[in-house]
Amino acid sequence: MQLQPIKQSFKVQYDYQLYFTSGLFSLENPLFEKLIADYKDFEPVKLLFVIDDGVKNHHPALINQISAYCEKHQQTIKYTSALVLPGGEQVKNSDEAVESVLKGVNDNKICRHSFVVVIGGGAVIDMVGYAAAIAHRGVKLIRIPTTVLSQNDSAVGVKNSVNAFKKKNFLGTFAPPYAIINDSNFLKTLEQRDWISGISEAIKVALIKDKSFFEYISDNATKLKHREMEPMQYVIYKCAEMHMQHIAQGGDPFESGSSRPLDFGHWAAHKMEFMTNYELRHGEAVAKGIALDVTYAQLTGLISEADLQHILDVMISIGFDLTLPVESSNEIQSLLDGIEEFREHLGGQLTITLISDLGVKHDVHTIDMELMAQAILKLNHQFALN
Ligand SMILES: NC(=O)c1ccc[n+]([C@@H]2O[C@H](COP(=O)([O-])OP(=O)(O)OC[C@H]3O[C@@H](n4cnc5c(N)ncnc54)[C@H](O)[C@@H]3O)[C@@H](O)[C@H]2O)c1
Ligand SMILES: [Zn+2]
Repeated sequence: MQLQPIKQSFKVQYDYQLYFTSGLFSLENPLFEKLIADYKDFEPVKLLFVIDDGVKNHHPALINQISAYCEKHQQTIKYTSALVLPGGEQVKNSDEAVESVLKGVNDNKICRHSFVVVIGGGAVIDMVGYAAAIAHRGVKLIRIPTTVLSQNDSAVGVKNSVNAFKKKNFLGTFAPPYAIINDSNFLKTLEQRDWISGISEAIKVALIKDKSFFEYISDNATKLKHREMEPMQYVIYKCAEMHMQHIAQGGDPFESGSSRPLDFGHWAAHKMEFMTNYELRHGEAVAKGIALDVTYAQLTGLISEADLQHILDVMISIGFDLTLPVESSNEIQSLLDGIEEFREHLGGQLTITLISDLGVKHDVHTIDMELMAQAILKLNHQFALN
């Protein structure tokens, strides 16, 4: 008997929301309770909180506020416990961190009708998202990002990950969160470098998609540097909105194709993060990566010298250091190797996003290595003279 293949196909719909507030766990703020109440079916919903220790140290009353908030709304919310884990990239290098979230899920009997709520920077959010996605094949996640980078980019997307085999984001999942809540209060306690670093992701998305957004950032560069909240909130809002739109409407939410425009500036950024043993923040590395790729774009004739200088000036006035952490020819070679490593990580054909004008992306499939080496030297020479 000839057995025919059995074929089926199905679609899964994802809906998720990003909310904006300040003082999320103050007793008068209805947002969080309403979010859980809208989900709740028949009994209080269990929540396990996981908190970045950098956030806890700067907001020492936070855990008490959360438990008081849950107590007030006990008909809707059942608080179980709050794990505090180290913030920063190292948490993505540690098996114990994933293990402790899984243990928290198990000990507190968090099921697929409960939520893990993560509060922290992009690194803790990536790691907890990964743990939540593999526990019970996926426990619901609410992300409360507390850095600029996580509020405007990393936490509003669909990726979760940890590092392994010395490779960044080697283990991970595509799993959209249930919701994200950006609380601007958290931003007030950021170190200056974390206040600035996420702005590079806004510059990235502006340069590939929206010239007027880039000009807004340019006009507000000094205010952004001096920690004015209003332009920062606009930059976060617009950047997050553009990222979410790209994910939902760009036709490739789980990145099966070879083109990833949101990775503009990222091949070099990933390599520089690794080469500096993650001393560089992701956003700092992205600023350098963009600076390098626009310098290369100018050398290939894609953009003018005036546009190149305009882009570099904006980043400098915000406070970015655009020197690349490479001096010797070995280090330059090692950075260039990042191009092939980037291709390997994505699989498929090499696709590097550049720009052909402010706000206009331009994909290329080959890189002239000699010209890219020249771009490295040109950039480092320019800033060595400053
Ligand atoms: N999933 C994605 O799509 C995606 C995209 C971009 C970046 N990322 C990842 O995001 C990570 C970087 O995130 P990041 O830039 O937020 O840095 P981070 O998470 O490393 O945090 C930086 C530091 O800030 C501290 N901190 C966090 N919130 C604070 C607050 N409100 N006040 C004071 N200190 C605070 C942390 O404890 C940490 O020490 C990287 O691992 C990167 O790979 C993921
Ligand atoms: Zn990035």
